[in-house]
Amino acid sequence: MPRGESTSAGKNKLRLTLPQVPKEFVENSDNENGILDVCIESLEKDLEQLDCTDKQKDRMEEFFNSKRAIGELKHDDLVNICELGQGNGGIVWKIRHKLTDKIMARKYCTFTNIDDHWCNWCQWFWNSLSPKKGIYLEIKPAVKNQIVRELKVLDRCNSPYIVGFYGTFAAEGQINICMEYMDGGSLDLILKKVMRIPEHILGKITVAVLRGLSYLREHHRIMHRDIKPSNILVNHQGEIKLCDFGVSAQLIDSTLQTFIGTRSYMSPERLEGAHYGIMSDIWSLGLSLVEMALGRYPIPPPSIEDIDRLFDVDPDGNQSRPEGYGCYKVLAIFELMEWIVNEAPPSLPEKHFSPDFCDFIDRCLKKSTTERADLNTLLHHPFYKRYATESDNQDVSLWIEQVHQKDQSLTNDNDNNQYGRS
Ligand SMILES: Nc1ncnc2c1ncn2[C@@H]1O[C@H](COP(=O)(O)OP(=O)(O)OP(=O)(O)O)[C@@H](O)[C@H]1O
Ligand SMILES: [Mg+2]
Repeated sequence: MPRGESTSAGKNKLRLTLPQVPKEFVENSDNENGILDVCIESLEKDLEQLDCTDKQKDRMEEFFNSKRAIGELKHDDLVNICELGQGNGGIVWKIRHKLTDKIMARKYCTFTNIDDHWCNWCQWFWNSLSPKKGIYLEIKPAVKNQIVRELKVLDRCNSPYIVGFYGTFAAEGQINICMEYMDGGSLDLILKKVMRIPEHILGKITVAVLRGLSYLREHHRIMHRDIKPSNILVNHQGEIKLCDFGVSAQLIDSTLQTFIGTRSYMSPERLEGAHYGIMSDIWSLGLSLVEMALGRYPIPPPSIEDIDRLFDVDPDGNQSRPEGYGCYKVLAIFELMEWIVNEAPPSLPEKHFSPDFCDFIDRCLKKSTTERADLNTLLHHPFYKRYATESDNQDVSLWIEQVHQKDQSLTNDNDNNQYGRS
């Protein structure tokens, strides 16, 4: 019987399943001090098996070495530099590790109530740490143990397309998650600076996201669950990485339903409460790509005249975003959900985009999962293949540099070291 169905098939109406946990972590789950060493050793083993370029391998080795040098994370060893952004789940800060001078990103949230809107990661960490802190949680011990084991998967998620994870700790009533600092910021922030993201950069983004999703599926049997522009990060080296992916299906589903916001990247089947899987990530990728290609959230979809107007202003989309550009009617939550579930999905016009790109989007944004392209199909799509063969990131790196030059406050940073090189 698949995991996740065993205990309460009756209650698990959606028949959600939990990801497999690597065996060694189940066996070592009580040995917290040994975890870091075990992880780094297995990371290095994983690295040998990953299909990446020499440059990517070097970058990951560099990351492992920093992680090893940092060791156990402690609140007193970290200095806040500036705020990078806020989401529904917490605040993200750029920080410095005093002992190694390493710059990292720290996501933390103050918890008040288990029912509040927590970010995915904070939920797992809170639940994994709570037994020691003696906080009462309405989670069955079996589920809690499952989450603790799942948590350790994060430490093993190592891919050139996934943001590196340094570790976590609880301090002063907050859960802290430390990760690799991506000095180009997230794609939603970039979209606030430029009108649109050009197709050839979106091609590279597509390659990175699909490879990140494949890695999560092949190596950890998990899906992302929260693909959107703010969870795709870039750096000055032209690397594109995913962050904030979901590990625990049970917890995410029990809390995500409480919040959807004025934009949703969730697939129709997920909004309808049906069983969903990696095909749901494909929908979210398609919708995110349309938003970045047009420079506005595409629901309700703009008319062709609206799109022509957007392109008339700046055919390449590289100019700075003027105030009010791409403004559109914002739907209320239920209107938005209804639109996604009942209306025709958004698409891209061939007048402004290549036929391959338009076709790729159409395949991602099929409302029916049986018609939607799966990961393997997309990995063979001509749009993916066009960009998959280019191994260097120089064009992405140059583009990020250009965006950065347009607006020195790309990452809301006030120190002069904002664009990293850190
Ligand atoms: N590792 C990182 N490096 C640099 N910036 C980051 C990093 N992680 C997050 N950020 C920035 O912090 C912002 C807030 O992130 P957070 O995950 O809390 O919220 P979100 O993704 O915008 O929204 P939500 O809470 O709905 O998922 C992001 O939009 C991004 O710009
Ligand atoms: Mg996020």
